[in-house]
Amino acid sequence: MNFEAVRQQEKENLMPTYGRFPVALVKGKGVYATDTEGKQYIDFGSGIGVNALGWCDEGWVKAVSEQAATLQHISNLYYSPVQTELAADLCRLSGFSKVFFGNSGAEANECAIKLARKYGESRSESCKRILTLCNSFHGRTITTLAATGQDEFHHHFDPFTEGFDYAPINDIEKVKEALTPDTCAVMIELIQGEGGVFMLDKDFVKQLRALCDETGALLMVDEVQTGIGRTGTLYCFEQYGIRPDVVTSAKGLGGGMPIGACLCSQELGQVLSGGMHGSTFGGGPVVCAAARYMLSRIARPDFLQEVAEKGEYLKKALATVPQLCNVRGMGLMVGADLRPETGLTSGDVANRCLQNGMLVLTAHKAVRFLPPLVITRDEIDEGVAILKNALKGAGV
Ligand SMILES: Cc1ncc(COP(=O)(O)O)c(C=O)c1O
Repeated sequence: MNFEAVRQQEKENLMPTYGRFPVALVKGKGVYATDTEGKQYIDFGSGIGVNALGWCDEGWVKAVSEQAATLQHISNLYYSPVQTELAADLCRLSGFSKVFFGNSGAEANECAIKLARKYGESRSESCKRILTLCNSFHGRTITTLAATGQDEFHHHFDPFTEGFDYAPINDIEKVKEALTPDTCAVMIELIQGEGGVFMLDKDFVKQLRALCDETGALLMVDEVQTGIGRTGTLYCFEQYGIRPDVVTSAKGLGGGMPIGACLCSQELGQVLSGGMHGSTFGGGPVVCAAARYMLSRIARPDFLQEVAEKGEYLKKALATVPQLCNVRGMGLMVGADLRPETGLTSGDVANRCLQNGMLVLTAHKAVRFLPPLVITRDEIDEGVAILKNALKGAGV
């Protein structure tokens, strides 16, 4: 099928919920994808931070296909060794004790929100409120949209789930004002990815941890995008010198298979009991086999060190692109703004890159770079050269 045929079929049969780039991808290997017309693209998006080992990594394909050929689904009515093994791996590597598996980042956050509210009940009947940060993004379900601290996500679908308050990032005094005895949890992203790659200050996060300890509110960190090696440690909180009470994870965990995980301590792991939460597909054998393989490759000091170093290399390279400024981020989660004199939007840059054979992401005004964690320095050079060429003559 050529691109026009795909576009036509989409128009006829899919709800028009996505603003798509004008390309249809059909295969990929490593950091390169190919479209319907045979054109190749170098990937600086990883399917929005998912394909951490690139496309069709041999070991990942083997893990997935062997499990699919052995036992594809059993429901959560029965015990599953591959699920318990993944849970054990994840707990050992993250330092948490209990996990619930869902199918996406939003579902991981839904579990965290339920856990927090049930935990709040033990403090007082009205202790149900959750504080999140302005400009955050926590998902697309009705509840995680309500948790998302961006007004643009609070239209159309009323009534939203009640009980969320918002405070500006990096302002502990404003957080103190917003926190009440009814706050059962504070939920944050350490780097706001969809919000435009904005990092929380380390001091702010430490103060937030202390504040939660003081008030008894849980500190829940949404590591859906920052987790599984993306920022150069298995979880980003490790670089902030704090331990959250709850962490949510998804995206890179399955490397392309849909999985979400909500992790917590032994004590909090008792809060949700039989029948309180569940999922038909959550923690299915094939996704768990994929996630076990992802962890076996990523959760290694040498691999993570490389991610951190390649991240610094990428930031330095991007700083030489005349049209970009405010290059920022951690590990291979990097964002940059456009100099105003270019007159370009982040979407213009993504489209120019696409025409030149490169996939990049946008987040509001920022251009976002989340290449596969296995990208080499030569491939980073290749991508940055394409970007420079795509922006040639623009503004500066
Ligand atoms: C920080 C964060 N939380 C939650 C989500 C929602 O994840 P999903 O789309 O898998 O539901 C995302 C998705 O981009 C995210 O970046």
